[in-house]
Amino acid sequence: MSLASPTKSSIWKGKEKAMDEDYADLRPVITYRHLHSHNLGVRDPLRVVGLCDSDAFYAACERVRLNLSEDAPLVVQQWESLIAVSYPARKYGISRMDKIKDAKKKCPDLVSVHVATYKEGEKEPGYWDDIDTRTHKVSLDLYRRESAKIMNVFKEMLPNGEIEKASIDEAFIDLTQPVRDTILERYPYLANIPPNAPQGADTPLPSPPLELDWADKVHLIPILPSDDGDDSPKDESEFPPTWHDVALCIAAEFMTKMRKQVLDTLGYSTSAGLARNKALAKLSASVRKPNGQSILRNDAIPNYLRPMAFQKIRFLGGKLGKAFADEYDVSSVGDILTVSLDEMQSKFGEESLWVYELVRGIDRSEVKEKTAYFKSMLASKNLPKPITKSSEGPQWIRVLAAELTLRLNEARETMPSLWPKTIALHLRKGYEASRSKQAPFPFVKEVTVDIVASAGNKLWKEMTGNAKDVNVGALQLSFSNLGRGEVGQKNIDGFFQQSTKRSREDAEDDQPSDTIQGRASSSSPQSPSSFVCSRCKKRIELPIHVVEIRGHDAEGLAETVAALRAEHDDFHFAQDLANAPETDQTGPAPKPSKPSSTGRDTKRRKKAGEPSKGIARYFNKAG
Ligand code: CTP
Ligand code: CA
Ligand code: CA
Repeated sequence: MSLASPTKSSIWKGKEKAMDEDYADLRPVITYRHLHSHNLGVRDPLRVVGLCDSDAFYAACERVRLNLSEDAPLVVQQWESLIAVSYPARKYGISRMDKIKDAKKKCPDLVSVHVATYKEGEKEPGYWDDIDTRTHKVSLDLYRRESAKIMNVFKEMLPNGEIEKASIDEAFIDLTQPVRDTILERYPYLANIPPNAPQGADTPLPSPPLELDWADKVHLIPILPSDDGDDSPKDESEFPPTWHDVALCIAAEFMTKMRKQVLDTLGYSTSAGLARNKALAKLSASVRKPNGQSILRNDAIPNYLRPMAFQKIRFLGGKLGKAFADEYDVSSVGDILTVSLDEMQSKFGEESLWVYELVRGIDRSEVKEKTAYFKSMLASKNLPKPITKSSEGPQWIRVLAAELTLRLNEARETMPSLWPKTIALHLRKGYEASRSKQAPFPFVKEVTVDIVASAGNKLWKEMTGNAKDVNVGALQLSFSNLGRGEVGQKNIDGFFQQSTKRSREDAEDDQPSDTIQGRASSSSPQSPSSFVCSRCKKRIELPIHVVEIRGHDAEGLAETVAALRAEHDDFHFAQDLANAPETDQTGPAPKPSKPSSTGRDTKRRKKAGEPSKGIARYFNKAG
């Protein structure tokens, strides 16, 4: 930390002032109106969010599949690398960084499972002996299926909670509503506003219980910092429970029950975090692993966050966090708290209010089931050796077609009319952007590998033409515009009639394939490594190196794009908030000091499509 530079020192607020004001919203007044409202959303002072993450997930899936003991030191291997390491194996010092050879040296009894692969000519992925990156393609289908089972447990046990799958092995769970119902059941005297309440519905609730019975196996993140080397519990009696603590305590009971059900019925141990919002829940979930559950009470937020490296916070780990670290020479949350909002906004744009708030423990993003995720499916293969002859394409297309067919048919088990309106083929040479071509995919009752492969082959032929020599380093075959087929829409004619009625955006995707031939992925409507934001109409693309790392794994790539999309949505959300007039007196928003970010000054609002100058650039394509 160098605070010496005179140009920089002018941007620092007084240290003491920062301490007093930064976390001023930890004990908001909670009224009958708050308790009885059902639609306060992210402004709800009783909001409780959980994040549940599976422990060593891929390794656990293989352990369950093979019916091995929980104590087995097990790794999941992809070619020579490790993609998951069980906790017993971690005791030997094995980490994801190790190569399989070194891992076996560290633990001679290591059980190593190679992730399932698709093999040419086989309809389903399997565990083969002759695994070779030149002929096989990784399949994460097992993990995806197990992931869906875990999600179903959450959904079944919590019909009135909102659940958002955040990645293959984790989910955010908004417990606010079920917890509110439980509070009313357990404290029936809160159900009616007392007739003599001085401010009617706006009367604060009576004092909460003096002590809470925090459920078993729960770790409370301490309110007071530990003295050097002394971790013994401090006297926290000056922080009596609040109604929000009551809510967290009940939320912890729900979470414990769900995690137990996942463990008992499916065999997966999980770790969870509970706090007032998503970013804090996610941070807390990694405090005790494996099989742990941590609770971050509002009072514990300042001492938990201040010493933390701020790049650990959700969305601050990437380029954006690095830009902040470089700009202000800061590393901990405490450091960044000293940067004023004005300063931040002048360098990073109005939207950096969102970062300003995050380091203050405020995160207004909603827990929302993301359905967009299921709108496309893709299978891809980075070839160890480029294809140089046009005739070598179809064998890989068949492998990709087998994966897509399996996944589509699996999805059709729960949604029989599910139908991808478009099929696309992307070809990439080395590090160049991909070329792609797409075509409408006819509605068929029974999707077979043959049908998909022949549609893929047709695109391949159209793209490589009569050229004898080609140079293709990676192939991606994808379905997009997945939706429900309509009743009576049983054939390809139905498709064309239907398509004229669809929205402009959909229609764009249905252009005859010829018109997009040879377009670079940055402008083609269906790149599996990017998406077009429906609000700002911009194409948001994953950086090429991420595509390279995740490209071999369709789910991983789709998930990474989903995360990018969520991040981008959150960015719009933060922008909206910055533009919205302040309406909520109890809400924790520090008032941004720039008039345009609080007022209704629509003139200053960005037009859709206008290039963004602020933090948006950190969420855009490489650069
Ligand atoms: N994964 C991956 N590539 C990454 C990160 C994760 O393939 N860059 C996979 C891992 O193999 C893992 C799963 O996604 O099993 C979930 O990742 P994560 O939760 O980060 O790790 P876990 O293995 O589940 O371990 P932990 O117990 O620490 O959560
Ligand atoms: Ca995990
Ligand atoms: Ca995870």
